[in-house]
Amino acid sequence: MTDTDGAPLDLEVPGDKSITHRALMLAALAHGESRLSGALPAEDPRSTAAVLRALGVAIPDLPADGGEIRIAGRGLRGLTAPSRVLDCGNSGTTARLMLGILAGYRFAAELTGDASLCSRPMRRVTEPLSAMGATFVERGAPDRLPIRIRGGSLRPLVHHSPKASAQVKSAILLAALVGGTEAEVREPLLSRDHTERMLRAMGATVQTARVDGLHAARVLPAERLEPLDLRIPGDFSSAAFVAAMALLGGRPVRVRGVGMNPGRTGLLNVLERMGAGVVVDNRAERSGEPVGDVHAHATPLRATSVGADEIPAMIDEVPILAILAARAEGETRITGADELRVKESDRIAALVSNLRQVGVEAEELPDGLVVRGTDAPLAGRVRTHGDHRIAMAFGVLGALPGNDIVVDDRDCVAVSFPGFWDVLRRAYGSGQ
Ligand code: S3P
Repeated sequence: MTDTDGAPLDLEVPGDKSITHRALMLAALAHGESRLSGALPAEDPRSTAAVLRALGVAIPDLPADGGEIRIAGRGLRGLTAPSRVLDCGNSGTTARLMLGILAGYRFAAELTGDASLCSRPMRRVTEPLSAMGATFVERGAPDRLPIRIRGGSLRPLVHHSPKASAQVKSAILLAALVGGTEAEVREPLLSRDHTERMLRAMGATVQTARVDGLHAARVLPAERLEPLDLRIPGDFSSAAFVAAMALLGGRPVRVRGVGMNPGRTGLLNVLERMGAGVVVDNRAERSGEPVGDVHAHATPLRATSVGADEIPAMIDEVPILAILAARAEGETRITGADELRVKESDRIAALVSNLRQVGVEAEELPDGLVVRGTDAPLAGRVRTHGDHRIAMAFGVLGALPGNDIVVDDRDCVAVSFPGFWDVLRRAYGSGQ
């Protein structure tokens, strides 16, 4: 379609990042050839692909158009010792899930990452994996990459995760499968369950239950995993930025084929309370995951409060929620989100300092933030700290007519949403 002012924007967003990581890893461990389409062609999944290649798996380049790739699986115990350090780039999911997988192998491997990833905590996975029998040497600062791992055949584990974390849960479930044992992870709130869904589709037994008020996921030993035949949905976390463009005054949008896993779509409930014009239709199930089309159009927003219970299902959407709050009427309070301090940047500090920098009143809490909405013109220079979601959030704010916001590192969006700036330009029907 041609980009004309006011005409709806009809598009798809790139494939889901969480699902792409898992699909690449699980295809590598499958018995036979997997077929994946819609894989996210961005830097984070490329880090996973590169790590798997260094472990002997032939992973093709991820096509820019999301076209199909085929991966010949090496079987659960078929990875080979790497001859170099495994660089996970900026990707926490690559590092933590690969630590889980490598915990089941007898060979030694060393994982590292960029400066941001090397400042993020890793003991949340290495401690439970140690309890299963893997050994770790922290080669830099305590609790941080680079870490050397040597695994082997593992012991069963029931792990109580103090926080909802899909990375921790997935690392332990994958370790059990590769290490020939069983494991259960209990968490206070349900984290995204892509790993559980995919493992079931591959024939593994994954049991989920409520135990003592906690959410438990248990995997039983498996001889082999069947290959995947997966059409990866659009990433809800990317679609959230596109919906926000429309809500704040850009062209109305329809984003087709977006993943609607309930562990990911918590922002929709918050948007409803804010009075936002967002509707999901065309709901269907695709390759074991719910999908739908997200429609959004400009609406006046009102402030709301978000507490700990809601955070896991919208953990990656807090940056864009803070931006919507900056244009909502009233004061929005977000609490129970201390995990944001250990994402690609300290997102609480980055959001508050940048909001203030451009003229929005905001206050930092130990576990969240308070944002006072304003319709005044906003201007200033934003520091992303190399964090893709901070860059995109302030990119959306900066595109609003009357605002003059410079984002210091626009390129970091390549981690999760290649083409973001182009979509933003189209949303406002201008040469932005
Ligand atoms: C992810 C889980 C979440 C999320 C991250 C991706 C995953 O992290 O913030 O962007 O793919 O499992 P935690 O598991 O640390 O909550």
